[in-house]
Amino acid sequence: MPDQPLDVAALRAEFPILSRQVNGRPLVYLDNGASAQKPQVVIDAITNAYAHDYANVHRGLHYLSSVATEKYENVRKVVQRFLHAAHEDEIVFTSGATEGVNLVSYAWAAPRFQPGDEIVLSVLEHHANIIPWHFLRERQGVVLRWVEPAPDGSLDPQVVLDAIGPKTRLVAVTQLSNVTGTVVDVKAICDGARAQGVPVLVDGSQGAVHLPVDVQDIGCDFYVITGHKLYGPSGSGAIYIRRERQAEMRPFMGGGDMIDMVTRETVTYAAPPLRFEAGTPGIVQTIGMGVALEWMMAKGVARLAAHEADLAAYAGERLGALNWLSLQGTAPGKAAIFSFTMAGPAHAHDLSTVLDKRGVAVRAGTHCAMPLMDFFGESATCRASFAAYNTRDEVDSLVDALHLCHELFG
Ligand code: ALA
Repeated sequence: MPDQPLDVAALRAEFPILSRQVNGRPLVYLDNGASAQKPQVVIDAITNAYAHDYANVHRGLHYLSSVATEKYENVRKVVQRFLHAAHEDEIVFTSGATEGVNLVSYAWAAPRFQPGDEIVLSVLEHHANIIPWHFLRERQGVVLRWVEPAPDGSLDPQVVLDAIGPKTRLVAVTQLSNVTGTVVDVKAICDGARAQGVPVLVDGSQGAVHLPVDVQDIGCDFYVITGHKLYGPSGSGAIYIRRERQAEMRPFMGGGDMIDMVTRETVTYAAPPLRFEAGTPGIVQTIGMGVALEWMMAKGVARLAAHEADLAAYAGERLGALNWLSLQGTAPGKAAIFSFTMAGPAHAHDLSTVLDKRGVAVRAGTHCAMPLMDFFGESATCRASFAAYNTRDEVDSLVDALHLCHELFG
């Protein structure tokens, strides 16, 4: 446990948007699973990068290019520290988690997998960790083996390991469901999979937001993060790729920055990680992501997580007491992400609209997780997803607004 609790009021004051009103009410922003708000320090870093230090990276010998390159490359060390990767060159920058998973699919899996080879996937997955594997199913006959969570949304690592067979070439699993907040014991999955020689990709899009992450301790081969959920800019992200796996990858996108030598007849490639970063990258986005991760580490990732765990417990208690509300996903130890529906005529979109009128921002829909919606037998849910700047008072605001929904639709 962190030594001192989080000073949430001070933390909130760092986020300019949190003091605005929506529909005449104080904003209660509970759509952090979709994208988190940005602290002033990140906004300033973006402005400063464009106002003072902007040029392309890895290309120019002039002063500004050197400054921009140094700031950009420094982020690799920040991400390495944030994820506790053994080596800086195991960090590849991406535009987000989606690009990270697609990179693994195109650069590592596609050239290596044969028809009939299997990928083990959980029904908890976000489409970003489903569609790149469907591509391999459609295009080269790879078989997707699905494992289901328990009715409460929890995922037993043994169920995942039991799905591994002689043809399994990869396990691709989320660390934390964006719909239910289920925390998956990815370390146990990696331990068991490694014992059978099967690599594991962990989707850390939500996990890295809500939990301290140590990729060496987890023992995964690939771990993706996305900057915009980590209080950083959209269009930023990174993937940890264990060195052994990097050595097995062919380049994915071709273009500038990823080459060593190009002639009319041949090309040789830059060493990783640049080999996997073709073209001008999201320079300022990446710099902003670095500042966001530094900001999280300065606050204390464990301290942020402890505050969110308190919110999860409180929200679980308050929402659980509403006997007219169905909660999808009540796994023990879940993070502060709550999906719900209400019996009666109200669609999730109706609930979201009423909540919005009260200044409460939630997401309604399928949350890019249609197989999980199908599992729960729902066409859509409402989702309240919390961040480190949320408060118990905001949980109360959500519950008050839900009472209004119940009066209107119940
Ligand atoms: N993956 C994001 C969400 O869960 C967009 O809302």
